[in-house]
Amino acid sequence: MVFDIDLIKHIYQHYPQKIDLIRQKIGKPLTLTEKILYAHLAPGEELKNYKRGEDYVNFAPDRVAMQDATAQMALLQLMNSGRDRVAVPSTVHCDHLIQAYKNAHDDLIIAESNNQEVYQFLRDVSNKYGIGFWKPDAGIIHQVVLENYAFPGGMMIGTDSHTPNAGGLSMIAIGVGGADAVDVMAGMPWELKMPKIIGVKLIGKLSGWVSPKDVILKLAGILTVKGATNSIIEYFGEGARSLSATGKATICNMGAEVGATTSIFAYSKKSADYLAITGRQEVVDLANKLIDCFNPDSAVLDQPEKYYDQVIEINLSELEPYVNGPFTPDLAYPISQLATAVKEHNYPDNMEVGLIGSCTNSSYEDMMRAASVINNANQLGLTVKAKLIINPGSEQVKYTSKRDGILNHFEQAGAAIMANACGPCIGQWRRDEVADEHKNSIVTSFNRNFAKRNDGSPNTYAFVCSPEIVVALSIAGKLSFNPLTDNLINDKGQKVKLQEPSGDELPKRGFEVDDAGYVAPIADGSLVEVHIATNSERLQQLAPFSPWDGKDIISQPLLIKATGKCTTDHISMAGKWLKFRGHLDNISNNMLIGAINAFNQKSNSVLDTQTGDYIEVPALARKLKAQGIGSIVIAEENYGEGSSREHAAMEPRFLNVKAIVVKSFARIHETNLKKQGMLALTFVDKSDYDKIREDDRISITGLTDFMPEKHLTLTLHHHDGTIDSFAVAHTYNQSQIDWFKAGSALNKMKEQFNE
Ligand code: F3S
Repeated sequence: MVFDIDLIKHIYQHYPQKIDLIRQKIGKPLTLTEKILYAHLAPGEELKNYKRGEDYVNFAPDRVAMQDATAQMALLQLMNSGRDRVAVPSTVHCDHLIQAYKNAHDDLIIAESNNQEVYQFLRDVSNKYGIGFWKPDAGIIHQVVLENYAFPGGMMIGTDSHTPNAGGLSMIAIGVGGADAVDVMAGMPWELKMPKIIGVKLIGKLSGWVSPKDVILKLAGILTVKGATNSIIEYFGEGARSLSATGKATICNMGAEVGATTSIFAYSKKSADYLAITGRQEVVDLANKLIDCFNPDSAVLDQPEKYYDQVIEINLSELEPYVNGPFTPDLAYPISQLATAVKEHNYPDNMEVGLIGSCTNSSYEDMMRAASVINNANQLGLTVKAKLIINPGSEQVKYTSKRDGILNHFEQAGAAIMANACGPCIGQWRRDEVADEHKNSIVTSFNRNFAKRNDGSPNTYAFVCSPEIVVALSIAGKLSFNPLTDNLINDKGQKVKLQEPSGDELPKRGFEVDDAGYVAPIADGSLVEVHIATNSERLQQLAPFSPWDGKDIISQPLLIKATGKCTTDHISMAGKWLKFRGHLDNISNNMLIGAINAFNQKSNSVLDTQTGDYIEVPALARKLKAQGIGSIVIAEENYGEGSSREHAAMEPRFLNVKAIVVKSFARIHETNLKKQGMLALTFVDKSDYDKIREDDRISITGLTDFMPEKHLTLTLHHHDGTIDSFAVAHTYNQSQIDWFKAGSALNKMKEQFNE
């Protein structure tokens, strides 16, 4: 048993009394979100009705999870925090660094050899600080958390933007940067702006080709990539109760794609079934006594418009399968409209690869339903036209799927079964056939589909959908195929139609696994030495960032004025760069190389005003830094959308960027910038973005009087001697201003420990 039942007993001990007190103090019926958030107020935090979307509140989460790509920087910061043991249960999951190429066995051997130094570091730090360690191939962080650690009414943070996956088991689970994880692991309060709450009422029942993934794909189309920023999505209604726990996790997982802080479903019979079959009957016995605590109050359900900030209704009985993309997850096409869209937009109709897996869709149910489509195709005399790649979500899912003959169906259809890991979802995919850079389509069961994310090629059009639709389109080899209406021609030349998918939510014979891949930390880690070679390419001790010099920012050059989408993949690419995630200097060589320069529409090509040449973004930043000069980054909407990787904030800080000024920020990234002591500012008047010229010098004044809710002033000194000056806004509260002044939140934490 890897979960700590005593911890859960402790958390549950006074839960009903806490909820009663909260209801009394707040003076109104409570949503599920409010029950869990208020039950986790940090010690000393006043119990009062906080204003949603405005007030910053300190919380005390129950646990922390980290994946290997972000854990490196988180743990390097933990080592600088002055603590010697984590204050809350924490885990590290080795899932991001395994490249998919041939098969699980061969790829794993290569990953273990290539990443030996990093895995050893993670294991040593885990032992030293009392952190649970999940070995490479144990599974994808969120699937492993769902199977082992998520529990109703709990609160966790994770250094990955899809941490909300655990909301499928009624946990408030929030994706954060490593510095936030360090706060919680060090026993400090963790701060969050009290989120708004969007209620999504699900009515009706899923059937046929429609799956839980389609709920969130449709919702992404409604809300768009930033429609749920600073909000928690709470699902309710009889349709919500009808979904499997892993299906609910899929929906919560992909709430990250609409910018939600997290998403959550109430505790139900389906949650209990999943907890029980994954070895947590004790949690069920306890949670069943607290059902009211893990559901919204009935008065909320009677008048949802009164208690949620926004209410959206989706009828599961009327839902169609969706295929979203390319290049953004909110471009939502019901499958009945996809063929027209393919023609209209000239999307490559030839579907080359179908990929099943990722933390979003790699459960037993997902595997079984997808395999049922393959099996049916086989019986009908159809072959799979596209290449199929499968990454199971965990060793437990893989072992059980193999035992039950599910993997066999895939293998017989020629699918490659890769490691239990992220693989192509995070660009860890050695895809030989993209070498010629031809335009092509791939369809995945993943959550994100930004340009270049999967295989590094800008010519790959990636679409996201459910695993069963991935398989259907792979069989047809056509993006425009609609399995609900279209026929296929089999090996005898007959017209045939695929049957609707079918499958069990949970394995009839229970889950089974030989070695799940967990390594518990040793009892006393004080003597463990963590070794970082000084000449290592992969790992580097972190030097603290310098405190603010007490002065305004005067006459700094523009580094880049980015146009269009600028996600964390544009700011700090994954793929081949993942190997430098523990080495700030080396990974800074990818800073903003994916961002498009507004002045020449090119990526990684910016004007060096000293020479008049166009050079690479990191090269210009390094050159200026070496001369003791800073620089300014300008960008458009939802800057930093996507991942929780704090490298996207640390790299500019490391390369002496003084401020990031944008039309709007994605939540996690804005916090990451603040944590690293960066200035994160927004245009008060968005049209001021247009005033910025390529050879401007930029000043930001008002810092000596930096205070909450007070604008700063940005002045553009144009090359022709003219000046433009306007207000820029910020969302720093007083403690965040203190982080800025100290140089970073970590510096501030150390100051506090030393006081
Ligand atoms: Fe991994 Fe992709 Fe999820 S990178 S954690 S599988 S979004």
